[in-house]
Amino acid sequence: MADLTLGIETSCDETSAAVVCDGRTVLSDVIASQIDLHKVYGGVVPELASRKHVEAVTAVVDKALRDAQVAPEQLTRIGVTAGPGLIGALLVGVTAAKTLAYVWDKPLYAIHHIEGHISACFPEHAELVPPFVCLVVSGGHSHIVKCCDYGVFHILGRTRDDAAGEAFDKIARAMGLGYPGGPQVDREAAKGNPDAIRFPEPQFRDTLDFSFSGLKTAVLNYLNRAQARGEAVSVPDVCASFQQTAVRTLVRHLTTAARDVGIDRIALAGGVASNSALRREAAAAAAANGMRLYYPSPILCTDNGAMIACAAHYAACAGRPCAGSDLNAVASWDLEHLA
Ligand code: KG4
Ligand code: ZN
Repeated sequence: MADLTLGIETSCDETSAAVVCDGRTVLSDVIASQIDLHKVYGGVVPELASRKHVEAVTAVVDKALRDAQVAPEQLTRIGVTAGPGLIGALLVGVTAAKTLAYVWDKPLYAIHHIEGHISACFPEHAELVPPFVCLVVSGGHSHIVKCCDYGVFHILGRTRDDAAGEAFDKIARAMGLGYPGGPQVDREAAKGNPDAIRFPEPQFRDTLDFSFSGLKTAVLNYLNRAQARGEAVSVPDVCASFQQTAVRTLVRHLTTAARDVGIDRIALAGGVASNSALRREAAAAAAANGMRLYYPSPILCTDNGAMIACAAHYAACAGRPCAGSDLNAVASWDLEHLA
């Protein structure tokens, strides 16, 4: 009998559900984005996000099953993002998943959002198996994670302040580029000169941690100074220069981390993993260091149910205990202690 996992994701501004076979074959992946709802506010409004998830979740799950041509009784298990994320948003997915697991009598697995992002690398790369080192960069996270085994993670570095995606979003907002800012900065940067402006590269000694707030502030100061002096700024040059600085740091830390732990397989995941400069620089660094690089298609980089289903499949294989009806959503959750 086929091994079929239903994955549900509602941690931020996407309501998503998917069916995945054998942890690697995506049969359906339905994503209801709330971007249009939050765009007018320039960022995610948590209360509105929760309400929209409530409205969407049943139809999204239903469509995921129909697209996959899978009946509820054929499912092997259900996986749901239980944290970290917006607590009200997470609660919608967790409540839906608990209800369906009870009604359909299926085992339920609580999935960590970062473990989900990492698992998004599996469907398109059959040869990618642990151990590998993954850079997880999104609107809420910037982590370098060693995937020691399925469902077993060790954090090698993390941001000490802003997440990478947050920095992209904030500087985009300051230039009136709209929300979410990452894709707009990427697009503008393609037209600009990355060496036009020298922004300070975040530097820490003896650590693989990141800091993006200094870089973000440097960009904001540059924009404010130019405005005060009545000078025109080249948006493409600002975007290209910022992006190059951020990407250099991310890639350097990723390859250093992999070398430190003696692993030659590296991966990118999370919304920012769609960034064209990050993909290009990481590919060049992987080639220079004799490493193999993996990253998902853009649709699997953004928040989606398929990555949660993949993670739940492997959590079950690794023997993680099922979640009970007392499962609660958690705003923060230690990736190194999931069981
Ligand atoms: O993983 P994700 O969909 O949601 C979170 O878990 O946060 O990531 C969203 C983030 C946003 O900050 C968005 O601006 C960023 O990913 N992003 C990008 C690109 N596409 C999305 N950042 C830079 N370049 C891109 N092409
Ligand atoms: Zn995410």
